Amino acid sequence: MKLSRRKFMGTTAAGVASAPLLLNTEAAAELAPDDIDWSMGFPDGSTLLNRNENPIGPSPKAVQAAKKGVEKSFRYADRILIRKLLAEEHGVPEDHVIVGVGSGEILNIMPLVYMREANKNMVAVWESYRPVPGRATLLGGEVKWVNLLPEEDYQFNVDRLLAAVDADTRLLFLVTPNNPTGAVMGYDDVKRLADNLPDHVKLIIDGAYRDFQNDGRDEIELIKGGNKNILVTRTFSKIYAMAGLRAGYGIAHPDIIKELSKFGGSPTSVNMAGFGAMAASLGDDEFIAKSRGFVKNARSYFERELGALGINTMAGPPIFILAEFGERTQEIVDALKARKIFIRAGGEWGMPNHARISYGLDHENATLIAALKEIL
Ligand SMILES: Cc1ncc(COP(=O)(O)O)c(C=O)c1O
Repeated sequence: MKLSRRKFMGTTAAGVASAPLLLNTEAAAELAPDDIDWSMGFPDGSTLLNRNENPIGPSPKAVQAAKKGVEKSFRYADRILIRKLLAEEHGVPEDHVIVGVGSGEILNIMPLVYMREANKNMVAVWESYRPVPGRATLLGGEVKWVNLLPEEDYQFNVDRLLAAVDADTRLLFLVTPNNPTGAVMGYDDVKRLADNLPDHVKLIIDGAYRDFQNDGRDEIELIKGGNKNILVTRTFSKIYAMAGLRAGYGIAHPDIIKELSKFGGSPTSVNMAGFGAMAASLGDDEFIAKSRGFVKNARSYFERELGALGINTMAGPPIFILAEFGERTQEIVDALKARKIFIRAGGEWGMPNHARISYGLDHENATLIAALKEIL
């Protein structure tokens, strides 16, 4: 019998007072892997196209290494080795690397480090990933939003970003390729942005999707070239399809790394399964090619099928697509939800007329399109 956590609690609650130890033992025995509720809180049979995940799953090599890691998880993981591997991968010294519980951990501590003083601000793009500016606001800082404009084809505008910077700006947050619009700031523009920022501003370049799409030149070169004000973050969640292992990292001049390390990215931020999977994945070109092939196919499928339904699309960072449902966006998202198909309305990124569809496996994508044919 499959037991959800809630049902499980219900079945045990009555006897807790009389025999807690016995019941706990039973609990452990009952929750065999297949009995665990892996639904992530969604109803049985849901199609999850709302979570910005790469559904092809980690490479077999990564899975094997993660399993090995679990066997060895009585030990703390070797963060020194993982830093070394990442440093080698990117051709930087080890003191330029910080590893986190996903890149999110590293991103979230940047405001803690640089925006604790009163009346400081962060410059950020409105139609973009919000948790990092959210942190700045939590700390009492201001966020100076810069819009992506339809008349500029939703591309980044370096001059308008620079114009938003003032004497109180401490951070400029850039996601490229951007979530959710897919805008990419090419290397030359990133360099111009970085070169023209005053020294009191740190530039965060969130490259969560970079391995899917870039112009062939890596912003890490700017750090190698001596820029002390850039933090680049990368993640294993997207191209390597291991979001649940929580593995990501940042690269910056050691002065930034030292400051970040006071708040997070601690020696124990890396778990043993993630450590194994990261080590086995780095430089796995075959898997990277597979991941890229998957998103390419999914994108052409959605462009074709949504196009046939008269829906405009905007290619997001390669792992999802934005569908322009106009004023009906929320209604369509709700109608899909009623059929246990989940996508996300774009209001939270300032794009209320768009919904974000994360690519699923072929049958999941087909389920969505079939439902849309009925709803539209
Ligand atoms: C733009 C962007 N940055 C960072 C993250 C966080 O990724 P991680 O899983 O490495 O914490 C995400 C996750 O969706 C993202 O979309």
